Amino acid sequence: MRRLAIVGWLVAFAAPTCAQDAAASAPDGAALADQGRRVYMSLCVRCHGLNLVSNGIGFDLRQFPKDNPERFRNSVSKGLRAMPAWEGVLKPGELDALWAYIGSVNHWQ
Ligand code: HEC
Repeated sequence: MRRLAIVGWLVAFAAPTCAQDAAASAPDGAALADQGRRVYMSLCVRCHGLNLVSNGIGFDLRQFPKDNPERFRNSVSKGLRAMPAWEGVLKPGELDALWAYIGSVNHWQ
């Protein structure tokens, strides 16, 4: 009886801890997109618009080719004509997070 109780306690407490560890080491798609949304709202929204609806200012990110993450990485890092370069501004991982956010708004997955 006592042993069963201990096993139950272990299952109840060990499982959520494992899930948290996994989330911390490898963020799932939704967590990454959410991080990207926050970066987008602070750096990109003023030119590219809420939910990527830019109303003709800048580039319509709903039209960005989903099979070209390299172009995204390059344009955002180095800048493109009227768009400033972001490589000195973005923290490590934020470029991937932005890509995930744009993919989630565009329903690429
Ligand atoms: C100051 C306004 C401004 C801000 C802020 C801005 N952009 Fe842009 N962005 C532009 C303009 C203008 C273009 C179109 C450049 C061109 O093609 O001449 C553009 C184009 C782009 C493109 C398309 C590049 C290509 O290869 O065609 C991407 C992707 C992009 N922006 C992502 C972002 C992201 C991500 C952020 C936030 C980190 C951001 N932009 C912030 C103005 C801005």
